[in-house]
Amino acid sequence: MTRILALANQKGGVGKTTTTLNLGLVLAQRGQRVLLIDLDPQSSLTSFMGYNPYQQDRSSYGLLMQPDFSLTRVMQTHRSTLALIPGSVDLAGAAIRLVQEQRPLTRLRQVLRENRYMFDFILMDTPPGLNVLMVAGFLAATEVIIPAQCNQGALSGVRAIQDAIKRIREGLGNPELTLRGVLPTFYDADSLYARQLLDEIRALLPGQVFKTVIPYDTHIADAPFAGKAVVDYAPQSAGAVAYRQVADELLTTSGA
Ligand SMILES: Nc1ncnc2c1ncn2[C@@H]1O[C@H](COP(=O)(O)OP(=O)(O)OP(=O)(O)O)[C@@H](O)[C@H]1O
Ligand SMILES: [Mg+2]
Repeated sequence: MTRILALANQKGGVGKTTTTLNLGLVLAQRGQRVLLIDLDPQSSLTSFMGYNPYQQDRSSYGLLMQPDFSLTRVMQTHRSTLALIPGSVDLAGAAIRLVQEQRPLTRLRQVLRENRYMFDFILMDTPPGLNVLMVAGFLAATEVIIPAQCNQGALSGVRAIQDAIKRIREGLGNPELTLRGVLPTFYDADSLYARQLLDEIRALLPGQVFKTVIPYDTHIADAPFAGKAVVDYAPQSAGAVAYRQVADELLTTSGA
């Protein structure tokens, strides 16, 4: 069964987009049929992959706002088993328009459920903040991954997303939504504080934290400047190794 994952954290700059991209690339390299969807008005995922977020016609915005837009109309084939639905700067106005025009937030869910047979994994990059675009993603998803930077405030970020998952599951029409896991990011093994925080997160969320930790790695930060993801830019770097391990963990856990 196709697994539909939303990558989310209301905190910004924690590695949501980096994780979406690298996991997508590794899963595709592993022979999985993967679709990435950019739901962020910043459209970093789209830019990282070399597409233009000003191209309004073929974007997740069209899918959310236009009832007659099909998945294939907005989809770009990136590699043989990897496709992208780009984001668009227009997404910034989508939140207001969706509410103002009383459009159903379940449109994305409907389209993905109708087309899920085309993919093994669908990964959605969501914007920071608890907003309507994240809700649209959560309504469509079967699982949520929370990338969490190992610093102060990490737990409050995780709690807020847990609460959002609970609300979507209980009241908003997606009872199958599960937390696949918290993915610690920017981890510095030399920092006593980071080590203690990781222990604390694991103790508070037993079984809900990935075994793999994404280290702080300058190769990850440098890769976008070379127009690449770290798994392609520096395949032997600690960051790339970690992302391959997360993909393996995902493949060995069952879906929702
Ligand atoms: N583990 C890491 N080590 C070093 N740099 C990283 C790491 N993960 C991400 N980065 C860098 O940190 C920045 C923020 O990462 P990213 O864009 O993935 O975060 P985000 O959560 O998607 O941010 P936003 O909330 O703005 O969407 C990027 O420049 C990225 O290259
Ligand atoms: Mg991002």
